[in-house]
Amino acid sequence: MAWITKNSATMTIERRQQPCLTEEMKADMSKRLLPRYETKMGALLPVLHEVQEHVGYLPHQALEEIAAFLELPPSAVLDTASFYEEFHFSPVGKYVIGVCQSIACEACGHQPIVDHLRSKLGVEPHETTSDGLFTLLCMECLGSCDTAPCALVNEDRHDLINIEQMDQMIDEIRAREGGQG
Ligand code: FES
Repeated sequence: MAWITKNSATMTIERRQQPCLTEEMKADMSKRLLPRYETKMGALLPVLHEVQEHVGYLPHQALEEIAAFLELPPSAVLDTASFYEEFHFSPVGKYVIGVCQSIACEACGHQPIVDHLRSKLGVEPHETTSDGLFTLLCMECLGSCDTAPCALVNEDRHDLINIEQMDQMIDEIRAREGGQG
C-alpha cells in the first residue's frame, strides 16, 4: 500500500458541542476497564471500541478526548486506531460489510463477490450507500482462512460466503429496514 501524506498541521478539526467521551463513560471505564491493564496504553483498544460504538465512528475530537483521558499523545492514539480497519474515521453505514481480501480468500474467489457487491450496492470499497444502510470494505485476514472466503458484517463473521448468500443477506436487511430491494 502506498504512503499517503496529508497536511495535518493546518487541518481543521470539526468539533461538536457534546463530548464524544462523556464524564459518565470516563467514570465507567475508569472503574471497569482501566484496572484490567497495567498501563493506560493497554486500555486503548477497548476504549477506542467503546467510543466508536457510542459515537458511530471516531472523529478527531474523539481521538483527542481519548488521548487526554488515557494521558497519551494524540499521535499514539491515531497511530493505533489507524492501524486497524475496524476503526472508522468518518460515518459508516448501519451495516458494514468487510470482505476479506487476503491470500486465502483471494485464492477462494473473493474478487467476484466484491465485484458483485459493488454492483448490487452501487458503491466502491470504503463508500456508503446513499440510504446510509451499507458500507463496503475490503479487509485483511479475518483469521478464518480455512473457511475462506469470509466477510465480516458488523461484528459477525460469515464463512464460506458466496454471491447468493450475500445477496440474500442484503435483501433481508433491506426488507427489514424498509429499504428498496
Ligand atoms: S485470508 Fe481471509 S480469513 Fe484469512
